[in-house]
Amino acid sequence: MSVAFAAFASGSGTNLEALLEREERGAAYRIALLVVDRACPAEGRMQRRGRMAARLDFGAAGAGRELARLLSEHGVRGVLLAGFLRLVPSEVCRAFDGRILNIHPALLPAFGGKGMYGRRVHVAALASGAKISGVTVHLVNERYDEGRIVAQWPVPVLASDTPDSLAARVLEVEHLLYPAAADALARSLECGDMRPPAFRWPVGISETDGALGQAIEGAFDGAGV
Ligand code: GRF
Repeated sequence: MSVAFAAFASGSGTNLEALLEREERGAAYRIALLVVDRACPAEGRMQRRGRMAARLDFGAAGAGRELARLLSEHGVRGVLLAGFLRLVPSEVCRAFDGRILNIHPALLPAFGGKGMYGRRVHVAALASGAKISGVTVHLVNERYDEGRIVAQWPVPVLASDTPDSLAARVLEVEHLLYPAAADALARSLECGDMRPPAFRWPVGISETDGALGQAIEGAFDGAGV
């Protein structure tokens, strides 16, 4: 029996797609519900599969309570932010403490915080001269990009990079790391373990070690930290 997750999105939804594809191949989770705060392509990705997508006016009074009600109605046990541009209402942060993940297209705490999303993150990474960027999966609290880090994977910054070329290289890793992290969270919840998924950086890994996806999967060993 898979663990029911909700995903929250505001944009193109390519991470949502990666999560759904992983679910279809077999995962410990299922995305029982997508919640969006605006009309966006992510909604279409869910609807094309005949799956449940709800649009919520997060600015409305009582939106947090309404969201908490929706999540409970769908038996949701964890939440995956997938390009969601708002703060999660405090009612939901409290109810799902330690069970809300976000993915960020840089190595936090670098290039994160309010207003640091999308292309802006990669513009800032290039402007800084950083030689390595990457992907971070972290727990969500009531502030932007500040929750405890669960997993990170580096991505080289090349001298020839533009924000778009760096974004594309980072996104490839996002699509591997996020489903692996979601699956690890679901496996922890399945066995009643409320700790965030354990992730160990595979010391000594090199680009010649084989498939990136396998290396990422192998870094999550299922037990909490
Ligand atoms: C991704 O870069 C993700 O890291 C960030 O927002 C972007 C969403 O992209 N949180 P998509 O909507 O999943 O394509």
